[in-house]
Amino acid sequence: MSGPIMALEDEIRRLKEQRHAVLLAHNYQLPEVQEVADFVGDSLYLSRKAAETDRPVILFAGVQFMAETAKILNPTKTVLLPDLKAGCGLADSITAEQLRTWKSQHPGAVVVSYINTSADVKAESDFICTSSNAIKTVASLPEDQEILFLPDMFLGDYVRRKTGRKMHLWAGDCPVHAKMRPEEIEAARAAHPGAPVIAHPECGCASGTLEHVDRVLSTDGMVRYAEETRAPTVIVATEVGILHRMQKLNPSTQFLPLSRGAICPYMKEIDLTDVRDSLAQMRYVIDVPGPVAAKARQALERMIAA
Ligand code: 13P
Ligand code: SF4
Repeated sequence: MSGPIMALEDEIRRLKEQRHAVLLAHNYQLPEVQEVADFVGDSLYLSRKAAETDRPVILFAGVQFMAETAKILNPTKTVLLPDLKAGCGLADSITAEQLRTWKSQHPGAVVVSYINTSADVKAESDFICTSSNAIKTVASLPEDQEILFLPDMFLGDYVRRKTGRKMHLWAGDCPVHAKMRPEEIEAARAAHPGAPVIAHPECGCASGTLEHVDRVLSTDGMVRYAEETRAPTVIVATEVGILHRMQKLNPSTQFLPLSRGAICPYMKEIDLTDVRDSLAQMRYVIDVPGPVAAKARQALERMIAA
């Protein structure tokens, strides 16, 4: 590791103590940001860590909806996002106004929203789920319950097939995962015969073509898989940032991205300098208006407790 990076990391560790901050980083963050974090994980794990912390400051190295979730769960704490450009293309695919219109067309339906949504959309939702618990959440609803699932149609389609529930799906998708195609899997299989293929359920390739994939997993599910596998090579269909953690946990297996171009531009807005500046200047403070937060908290706390 280079001198300037080590110096920045030391500065961040010092500032973290000075500010009494906890640093949470998503699995897609840059390797050097993951290295300096207190906790690294998927959306569910990081929501739990945000709910548990006794530190007054939460620095979220992730995207806006993750920082908002931390704020909703901790109204009295200061939540910082190092760069306000760290949004999420999937979360942008539905507004609260659009959801209200959709709900009015289906009176009596229950709304299950993926955590990749704005606080306003969460406030209009009955349940929040992540990629780790979406199947469990939907399966826990009564058999005849009408369900609106949003915003990711690929995750929704996967959950619909796994649970056999009739769900209405919002036609949103993640700009990074939706591009992955079954043909890419076939090409990777031909190049690496016998290598298992694991995919995130937001992938276009996970929809309708599950026979092409060995396992469908959340990002933490992939990390656990990496720890356990003895396969010489594994093909990983998700954002490339996760490969750092997988390779570090299991150096004997070669983890190859299905697509080297699967880079989330929002996650990559954050680097070590942004993290340092965020702590030094206590910016950018994430706030969620009280009434919105109160409504969204009910749906989120249901998820955290499950
Ligand atoms: P995970 O909850 O599986 O980490 O997914 C979050 C995400 O944004 C995937 O694109
Ligand atoms: Fe959003 Fe997709 Fe980036 Fe995940 S990978 S944060 S869903 S844009």
